[in-house]
Amino acid sequence: MPDRKSTRRTVVIGNWKMHQTGAGGAALAAAIVAGLRPGRAEIAVAPPFTALTAVADAIRGSSIALAGQDVFHEPEGAFTGAVSAPMLAAAGCSLVLVGHSERRHVFGDDDEDVRRKARSVLDAGMRPVVCVGETLEQRDAGQAENVVREQLEATVHGLSDAELAPLAVAYEPVWAIGTGRTATPDTAEAMHRVIRASLASLAGSGTAERTPILYGGSVKGDNAAAILSGANVDGLLVGGASLRADSFLDICHAAG
Ligand code: PGA
Repeated sequence: MPDRKSTRRTVVIGNWKMHQTGAGGAALAAAIVAGLRPGRAEIAVAPPFTALTAVADAIRGSSIALAGQDVFHEPEGAFTGAVSAPMLAAAGCSLVLVGHSERRHVFGDDDEDVRRKARSVLDAGMRPVVCVGETLEQRDAGQAENVVREQLEATVHGLSDAELAPLAVAYEPVWAIGTGRTATPDTAEAMHRVIRASLASLAGSGTAERTPILYGGSVKGDNAAAILSGANVDGLLVGGASLRADSFLDICHAAG
């Protein structure tokens, strides 16, 4: 039987959050392009909206993909301040993060928002990277598995196996984001197994086997390989360490 993991391509996404202007982002992206050794992993960067066009220019012709950090679910209209999935696609994005814990906890995105955002990303022909993860209180109360299962269920509800083909999931325990406290490789793998089993029961075994499940939360060059060793860990969503070319490249190269 083939190693199932080998059928899923490793994905590494640098989430720049609210960092970098167009000029700074273009310089960072150019340094990543210059330093990236050819490998099997799919590499993407997610700059803020205002830097997307400059970064798209900087990565043109390279293997690096462009990702949006968030999206509003309507395609267009009177929604001041919002950016739609067709706009992100036109700016060169092929992936969009939805449900990042900062969107959920700082901006109040709920499961229904996440579902509509994921759907709009799929409708625009891009890959939604649906972020799920429990808080420390939920983990301490023994609820971690239920929390991620419910977040996932709310998102994939009503979508067919075929519609879900481009889906990616990121497991990001809230207690590990920006804290320097990383889930151990065993904890990450255990949660990724839960997520894959949930996908199988919610959306079928085809979706479960095909969907890359990324880990995020204080990933650095020196812990990336250990986290990626889990059979169900198919990639990394990197925040702080993606803001410097050298530390991001270390992680990309650890991913193969
Ligand atoms: P971090 O952020 O790597 O800075 O912990 C991860 C994320 O929020 O995606």
